[in-house]
Amino acid sequence: MNRRIVVVGSINMDLVTQAPRFPAPGETLLGDGFVTVAGGKGANQAVAAVRLGAEVALVGALGRDSFGDQLHAGLREEGVDLTHVHRLADQASGTASITVAGGENQIVVVPAANAGVTPAHLEAARDMVARADVVLVQMEIPLEAIDATLRLGHRLGVPVILNPAPARPLPPASLALARYITPNQHELAVLLGASPDEDFRALMRRAPGPVVLTRGSEGAWYREQGEPAHQASFAVDVVDSTGAGDTFNAALAVFLHEGLPQAVRKACAAAALAVTRLGAQQGMPRARELDAFLAR
Ligand code: RIB
Repeated sequence: MNRRIVVVGSINMDLVTQAPRFPAPGETLLGDGFVTVAGGKGANQAVAAVRLGAEVALVGALGRDSFGDQLHAGLREEGVDLTHVHRLADQASGTASITVAGGENQIVVVPAANAGVTPAHLEAARDMVARADVVLVQMEIPLEAIDATLRLGHRLGVPVILNPAPARPLPPASLALARYITPNQHELAVLLGASPDEDFRALMRRAPGPVVLTRGSEGAWYREQGEPAHQASFAVDVVDSTGAGDTFNAALAVFLHEGLPQAVRKACAAAALAVTRLGAQQGMPRARELDAFLAR
């Protein structure tokens, strides 16, 4: 049976510029290319999870503008349930201005309609959350909505994976309701109010619950109890790392029922495939592609 996943999060139009390098402040560079592609951490995670074979519903918000129309149509085409994606009047849809250079990226997100996701939207989606195997939430929506997601999942006994990106401090009581948190080192330090220079294993031990920590090309570390364990990354040619974290989180949610070590292994493999193409959603693998990659 397909896994049922509810994703609560942002939907953006990504305005992606390819450049030979990042410009210095005040500098103008000639770029190599420009594309407009669907993005937003919530939408990306929803699309990645659908492609990996899950039944996915998204809770989020779009403006009533042309970006909103395009993003809504694209998500519907992917097969994401949009019953709880609200079209907000007098709001623009979220955007992300992204510069890609040498496989790295710089991103400025304007949340716009994403800032209009409220706890009431979560209450409205209560029945859908109750039927879910896993809930995924990130931090491009208001803190009240994130808190409401964690509380609802906890109340209904549905595990919530909190992907704390972009990181903001969260009240410890909310943080403790997440079944897993999936930060990178910097995000974990922000969440815990610690120094980013602190050893990441020490940070993981200080977290209030299980942690899956991503380390880019060094793979991922995970800890439920005891000492953190390591999963190496898969070697690929990196074109664009945008959306790698989203693919990782989606795969983790989809394969969590296979046990944490196997889910983290598949999440690393899915993320590796995702970085081989430009754009957050372009490279996200389908289940068959992931299986073939893992079999090699
Ligand atoms: O995680 C990648 C995403 O972050 C991009 O698609 C962009 O929209 C930003 O939200």
